[in-house]
Amino acid sequence: MTDETDERSPDAAAESAAAGAATAAAPAPTKPEAAPAPPAEISRRGLFSWAAVAWVGFSAAIGGCVTAWGRFMFPNVLYEPPTSFKVGVPDDFPPGVVDERFKETNGVWIVNNDGKLYALIAICTHLGCPPNWLEAQNKFKCPCHGSGYYKSGVNFEGPTPRPLERTMITVDPSDGQVFVDKAQKYLWEQGQWEDPDSYIKLG
Ligand code: FES
Repeated sequence: MTDETDERSPDAAAESAAAGAATAAAPAPTKPEAAPAPPAEISRRGLFSWAAVAWVGFSAAIGGCVTAWGRFMFPNVLYEPPTSFKVGVPDDFPPGVVDERFKETNGVWIVNNDGKLYALIAICTHLGCPPNWLEAQNKFKCPCHGSGYYKSGVNFEGPTPRPLERTMITVDPSDGQVFVDKAQKYLWEQGQWEDPDSYIKLG
């Protein structure tokens, strides 16, 4: 009896040995991974939390829409006071008095000074703050940077470069009322305070 191994050629034996080695080195087949476990069931409390968050978001969106609609239907309207108005008769303004009744409503002081009635615009000529009338000190004083003005409106202290402005002021012949028109301004530095429409000459 002959040995088969011995009858193979040396090359065939080598190939056979290599195949055996490759078979031995190949990794053993692995089992397929088990399918992931299904997610844990969502708890009832978590469900309610998400529902609450969704409801709050929905409510906020609706609220925003309603607000936007309201602003569209009822936009802000700026009501400016009229630029021309009547303030009473000349006798309503005693000599030497700065009348502040129209500062808040119309932005002017009515001043009876040196035999003239005039209207000063209550805006500082530095940067536009509203000055205050200081009766005890007989002057207008701006609270922003300290500019000061005489009763006439001429500046004398602080950073402002020029006097307060005056407006047109006349007596309406139809009813004897003092009529003020802020659309027409008079500037001291341009000599306009001499204009007869910038003051009322008092008897
Ligand atoms: S705004 Fe009146 S002093 Fe500056």
